[in-house]
Amino acid sequence: MITLTTIADVRAACDAARAAGRRVGFVPTMGFFHEGHRSLMRAARANDDLVVVSLFVNPTQFGPNEDLAAYPRDLEGDTAAAQAEGVDVLFMPTVAEMYPAGARTTVHVDGLTERLCGASRPGHFDGVTTVVAKLFSIVGPSRAYFGRKDAQQLAVIRRMATDLDLPVAVVGCPLVRETDGLALSSRNVYLDGEARQAATILSGSLYLASEAVVRGQRDAAAVRQLIVDTVGNAPQVRLDYVEIVDAATLEPVDELTTDTLVALAAFVGKARLIDNVTISFPAGVPTPDLGVLTASSGMQIESA
Ligand SMILES: Nc1ncnc2c1ncn2[C@@H]1O[C@H](COP(=O)(O)OP(=O)(O)OP(=O)(O)O)[C@@H](O)[C@H]1O
Ligand SMILES: [Mg+2]
Repeated sequence: MITLTTIADVRAACDAARAAGRRVGFVPTMGFFHEGHRSLMRAARANDDLVVVSLFVNPTQFGPNEDLAAYPRDLEGDTAAAQAEGVDVLFMPTVAEMYPAGARTTVHVDGLTERLCGASRPGHFDGVTTVVAKLFSIVGPSRAYFGRKDAQQLAVIRRMATDLDLPVAVVGCPLVRETDGLALSSRNVYLDGEARQAATILSGSLYLASEAVVRGQRDAAAVRQLIVDTVGNAPQVRLDYVEIVDAATLEPVDELTTDTLVALAAFVGKARLIDNVTISFPAGVPTPDLGVLTASSGMQIESA
């Protein structure tokens, strides 16, 4: 693995790979790697020839009162983890490298970015799409891998790639969970013991909602209320939103149909966490996609 910090060096490495007929796979991250990140690296390693991972805590996707300064970092641990996953190029640019003085261009995806997390994090997705568009331009990947923990981000990036005719396949990868169901997130490090325990109510409410759908519930308002009531009982947890939307357009739906996304965000202790389940109906049977557990814990959704 080589670690590079300049755009020119990454371009040169990716150009050379493509010239040799090798396909480039790309995983954009903000570092502090956990199993979720590593699962994306493994997917890239399995599919692509040159695996490029970017580690960049992108300031433009943080709001003025968010946790940019406190965002967890572990360059040594991250370097070792990327190496262990067989990453070829670790790209760690500075803020000045990515945003030189004079930059005036932003990529904005309309509509999809105003709902869900966009409502409580104004400007967040403009920061995401702008940096991801730049990274795509620098790396030139055939495939780019994103986790379904960030379901709205995935929908927004897909929309951007389609609308801008970007020659990259956007690959969505399973949401990885702790054995008790908590979605892995770098921000989980903000949770103290009590908050960490309380946070399990988020995935727990989505498991309950999924079971209700499997038993026949199709009414979005009822499923939403079930989640609100479940989480509402928990100390230390304040729901930001619960929304039931089409997974691609993020438009609200009244009935759960195929590819319905049930997504929530909540403040738990000092952290703002997100979680979701996508429910599809292959052959009419509801199939909740809650992701995968890091180890077997017996938390399984009964099938219809
Ligand atoms: N639990 C997870 N399962 C699968 N993919 C994940 C998971 N957590 C993060 N990812 C993916 O890793 C990529 C990089 O995300 P990022 O570096 O922001 O990590 P993060 O854990 O989401 O951190 P934070 O919660 O602080 O934003 C994204 O595509 C994201 O969806
Ligand atoms: Mg994230």
